[in-house]
Amino acid sequence: MDSFDIFNPVNIRFGRGVIGEAGKIARRYSNSALIVTGKTSMRKTGVLDNLIGILKSAGVDVTVYDGITPNPTTAEIDEAAGIAKQKGVGLIIGLGGGSPLDSAKAVAVAAKGDMPVWNYLKTPATEALPVITIVSTSGTGSEVNRYSVMTNPETGEKPGFGYACMYPKEAIIDPEITASMPPQVTAATGFDVFVHILEAFTGKIRNAFSSAYCMQAFYLLRDNLVRAYEEPANIEARGNMALASALAGLAIDISGVGIMHALEHPVSGNYPEVAHGAGLAALAVPSMKYNLEACKMDFMLIAHHFGIKRAGKSDDEYAYALIEKTEDIIRTLSLNARLKDLGVEKDRLPKIAKEAFSTMGFAIQNNARAAGEAEVLKILEESY
Ligand code: NZQ
Ligand code: MN
Repeated sequence: MDSFDIFNPVNIRFGRGVIGEAGKIARRYSNSALIVTGKTSMRKTGVLDNLIGILKSAGVDVTVYDGITPNPTTAEIDEAAGIAKQKGVGLIIGLGGGSPLDSAKAVAVAAKGDMPVWNYLKTPATEALPVITIVSTSGTGSEVNRYSVMTNPETGEKPGFGYACMYPKEAIIDPEITASMPPQVTAATGFDVFVHILEAFTGKIRNAFSSAYCMQAFYLLRDNLVRAYEEPANIEARGNMALASALAGLAIDISGVGIMHALEHPVSGNYPEVAHGAGLAALAVPSMKYNLEACKMDFMLIAHHFGIKRAGKSDDEYAYALIEKTEDIIRTLSLNARLKDLGVEKDRLPKIAKEAFSTMGFAIQNNARAAGEAEVLKILEESY
């Protein structure tokens, strides 16, 4: 029996309208905050202005950095950290999807120290400003975990990192904020949750706690992902997907991700216009076929919980039924684009394969089936 430690210090506040408590919560940490957000969505929906009002009426002085792009770059993070230092803020509030939330954690680290944020990949951070996450997508799980993913715009490298000091102090999960996601964002981010479940559930360092989070996230996703996609205003489906995202985010905090994430990060690092979830969808079926033998029992279990009938199927056929179900979900969500359709150039595949190891080696290590560069390149070619 393997030994392990579980640690997650995030206060999670979930429910409709809980953003209204942001002022009171923020005041516990500081009376001066930097909001880190994206360029458009939170302003357009009125959520940013609403949050600024809530914070100001609680006596919190607010500065806004709204330059975070999807698949955020180190340049954006360093710029925001410079503003945080210059203003002397005592709190970072991430508002938006995984990109602004990941950035908020990285800003919190860089604003405490005196190095460019990229240097913290090699030099562990031991302190950071407090972070509050206010999530607007149901996907990455960044709202409740310690991870931050950033892209070096000069090289296209897109590693993830996460130190204990990077856990958000508070996660505010208000499903109403997610209801404005257009269908393609709901689809891509929702598929990300599915892959977190698959990879944390089958990874080498999984344990009883991560598996428990995965199963509950799975039931919620099974019953709500397509509903949220087809009925954007269905607040119950939105709430359940927000829960699935957080539960799967806790699972990957414990047990990490696998080969699909190892391959996807260099895809969206080299091609920042590719949404993380869309990249995962292109890689999913070839990766699952590669993993089939090593994940047979787990795939059969998930197929069973999808309600797929066993009938006269052999173990191999029943496990394979999960791959067919995944293809089905990808089609239903209109995520059936290949790497080629996403704009990836064929001659870039060897660089992507190399970076899967150099930037996401821990995810390859955790994958149920061992893989070398040749195997990884083959999966990329099959996904092309
Ligand atoms: O950029 P803005 O204007 O804010 O618009 C965003 C963006 O265009 C928009 N959007 C977000 N919430 C919305 C909305 N539009 C309307 N209504 C809303 N409520 O959606 C687009 C995508 O947003 P983004 O934050 O980029 O998406 P996502 O949540 O998928 O985050 C992706 C990033 O997270 C990383 C990914 O690699 C990627 O960089 N990940 C972080 C992880 C973690 N911290 O644990 C794990 C993941 O595996 C992932 O790697
Ligand atoms: Mn992901």
